[in-house]
Amino acid sequence: MIELNDPSLLKTQLFINGEWVNSNSGDTFPVYCPATNECFVNVANGGKSETEYAINCAHSAMPLWQQATAKQRANILKHWYRLIVENTQDLARILTVEQGKPLHEASAEVTYGADYIEWFAEEAKRLYGDIIPSNNPSQRILTLKQPVGVVAAITPWNFPIAMITRKVAPALAAGCAVVVKPAEATPLSAFALAELARRAGLPKGLFSVVVGTDVAQIGHELSTNKIVKKLSFTGSTPVGKLLLKSTADTVKKVSMELGGNAPFIVFEDADIELAVEGAMASKFRNAGQTCVCANRLIIHSAIAQEFTQRLVTKVKGLTIGNGLDENVSIGPLINEKAVENMQGLVNDALALNATLETGGSTVDLKGNYFSPTVLSNVSPEMRVFKEEIFGPIAPILTFDTDEQAIELANATEAGLASYIFTQSHRRIWQVSEKLENGIVGVNEGVISSEVAPFGGVKASGLGREGSKYGLDDYTELKYICVGNIEE
Ligand code: SIN
Repeated sequence: MIELNDPSLLKTQLFINGEWVNSNSGDTFPVYCPATNECFVNVANGGKSETEYAINCAHSAMPLWQQATAKQRANILKHWYRLIVENTQDLARILTVEQGKPLHEASAEVTYGADYIEWFAEEAKRLYGDIIPSNNPSQRILTLKQPVGVVAAITPWNFPIAMITRKVAPALAAGCAVVVKPAEATPLSAFALAELARRAGLPKGLFSVVVGTDVAQIGHELSTNKIVKKLSFTGSTPVGKLLLKSTADTVKKVSMELGGNAPFIVFEDADIELAVEGAMASKFRNAGQTCVCANRLIIHSAIAQEFTQRLVTKVKGLTIGNGLDENVSIGPLINEKAVENMQGLVNDALALNATLETGGSTVDLKGNYFSPTVLSNVSPEMRVFKEEIFGPIAPILTFDTDEQAIELANATEAGLASYIFTQSHRRIWQVSEKLENGIVGVNEGVISSEVAPFGGVKASGLGREGSKYGLDDYTELKYICVGNIEE
C-alpha cells in the first residue's frame, strides 16, 4: 500500500454521478507498480453499462451547470485547484507508485496539472462573443460561445494527472459535463482527482471516471453514444485514427493529441552546453515517455563529436531506480512490453551499423527498467528514426546544411514538437517557419505550459489544448442575426 497523509485519497471504485461505486459485475482488476512489477491494489472493472450510465448522468447534470454564471463555475474550479495543490505530496506518491516517474517529476506534474485548472477557471470568465458590423443597416450580428455538450475524454498513462486536467478543466469552464476514461495502468490518480473535485463542491454527474480492462468496449461507447458531442483523446496515432472513424457516424467534435517524433536540431553556432541540457530535459523526462520527447537528435557534423561526448557524460550520471527513492533521476518504463520494445529498437539500430555510446540493455533490477541509451551513426532507415521511441533512447544523426536538417526533421508523418538550438536570429525564424510541427522549442527543451497552445499537425492530431485557444475546443460558436431594427 502507499503511505499517504490522507489515505482516503486512495480510491479503488468508479466515480459516477458523484458517488463511489463498484462495477455492475463486481469484477476488479489489478494495478501494478512498474518499479517492482507487483500488484499493489485492485480496482473496479467497469465496462459499457457503467460508461453509458455515466454519460446519461452527465447529460442530466449539464443544464444547471451551463446556466451557472462563469464566476460560479470558476469558483468551484479554483477550489478544486487549491485542494490539488494542498494534496500535492499524496497525489505525487500515488502517481509515482502507479506510473513510475521519480517523485520530483510527479510533484511537478501535479503542479502542471493543477495549473490547467487555475488557468481555465480564469478563462471561464473570458469566454467572449463578438458584435460584427453588418452589411445591412437594419441588422446587428452577434456571436456567442456555448458549451459543446457532454464531453468524453480518453487519457493516457504517461501523465495521469495533467492529461486529465488539460481536458476536464476547459470542458467544465465552458459549461460542459465530462466522462473520463483514464488508462487502466494508472486509474488511481484519476480517482484522487475526482475525489478532490467532489470535495471542492463540483455538482454530481459533471465529472465521472470509468475505467476497465475492456478498453475497446468503453472506447466504443464513448465514441459512438449520441449524447456525447465531443471526444478528446490523448494517445497513439493508430488508436486515434480508430476513434476518429467511430466518431464519424454521430459527427462529434474531436480533439486528438497523438504521437510525435520530435526532431532536435543543433546547429553549428549553438551554445553546445545549453543544447545538451535541453536534450537531457526533453529526452529523459518521464524516462522518455512523452509525446514531445526529443526523438531524433539531428546534430551539425562540426559539433557532433563534442555534443555526443557531453551528452554521454550526463547520461551516465543519471541514477535509475524506483521513483520513490529521492535520489533517483530516471524511473522504470510502464510495463515489460515497453522494455522489450526498447531492446528491439536498439538491436535494429545496431544491426544497421549504429554505434552504441552508452546503455542499450535492460537493468538488473526487479521492475521494468531499461538503461538510458545514446546511439550515434543513426540513419533514416532505422526504426529509431521512423518510430516514436517512447523510452530512454537518444539517437544521434548528423547534417551539413540547414536544408538537410529541415528535410530530415520533416521526414515523418508526425508533426507535434520540434526543437532547434542556434544563436542566429535568421535561423530561428527561417527554420521555425519551415518545420512541420505544431510546437517549436528554440534554445529550450521544455515547452509544456498551461498558457501555451499544445497540439500537433499532420498525423499528430487535431485541436489545441491549454492557452486561450484551449477553451474553443469545448465550445460551439453561435451566430445571431437581429434584423429589422430600423422602423
Ligand atoms: C504528452 O506526452 O502527451 C504530454 C506531454 C506534456 O504535456 O508535456
